[in-house]
Amino acid sequence: MDVSQHYREAWEGFWSATSDMPGEVIWDSDPSLTSVPDTELLLPHADTSLPVADLGCGNGTQTRYLATRFARAIGVDLAHAAIAHARRADSAGVAEFAQLDLVDAEAVAALHKRIGDTNVCMRAVIHQSEPEARPAVAGAVAALLGERGRAFVVEPTPASKDVLQLVAQGPDGPPEKLRRVLAHGLKPASATEEEVRRLLQEAGLAMLAEGTTALAQTEYLPDGTRVGLPSRWFVLAPAERRNGDRR
Ligand SMILES: C[S@@+](CC[C@H](N)C(=O)[O-])C[C@H]1O[C@@H](n2cnc3c(N)ncnc32)[C@H](O)[C@@H]1O
Repeated sequence: MDVSQHYREAWEGFWSATSDMPGEVIWDSDPSLTSVPDTELLLPHADTSLPVADLGCGNGTQTRYLATRFARAIGVDLAHAAIAHARRADSAGVAEFAQLDLVDAEAVAALHKRIGDTNVCMRAVIHQSEPEARPAVAGAVAALLGERGRAFVVEPTPASKDVLQLVAQGPDGPPEKLRRVLAHGLKPASATEEEVRRLLQEAGLAMLAEGTTALAQTEYLPDGTRVGLPSRWFVLAPAERRNGDRR
């Protein structure tokens, strides 16, 4: 299976039209607001001598932080243009980047073969994936964990749409950062919390911990407060390993 050409072109177009400027993208927040607290939720469950794979890594801002916490960090993204951004931004070469469609089970299996069991971080990928592709995206998380990996998955919930609507209601309409997302046909927050939980469970993943958070954005509400998208996070293990948390 593969994502549709329309979906692939939407992401390729978005990243091709993006500059290398940090924070130009609405979700490209500094890791201190995102991966730093997220990683604290994963680390108690994870073997950091294993690699970490950042799935749907975009321009790699979070991947570079993850490289400081795990033995090796690999960022993968559907869009070649995103991977080009990520490589340019990683001037110190702390992480590795590769183009990969998470829906392509063969490509995912090849990555697992290459790097072995790996921890996974996946931020905001299922929520805007095409509905028919979502089971494969969840399946990619399970395939990459193998037996020893653990995952942190965080996805905006539909309540995010209300927040984005508030953002769009500024005096000048949707700000440029939000306009760009919508103009490329990307559909944020279209998966429910129940759907995400079910997809992860059906992929053979067990929840070690879960909770709510707000995904910090680089945009501000008309009253000057930073936009945070209501989200749910999960720390996951292969289902049959639930009792042996860390091996
Ligand atoms: C909302 S962005 C989040 C980027 C990054 N995780 C972050 O938090 O900064 C979603 C990313 O997932 C990528 N993506 C979407 N579908 C994908 C797929 N099927 N396989 C791999 N990457 C995908 C997009 O190209 C985009 O870079």
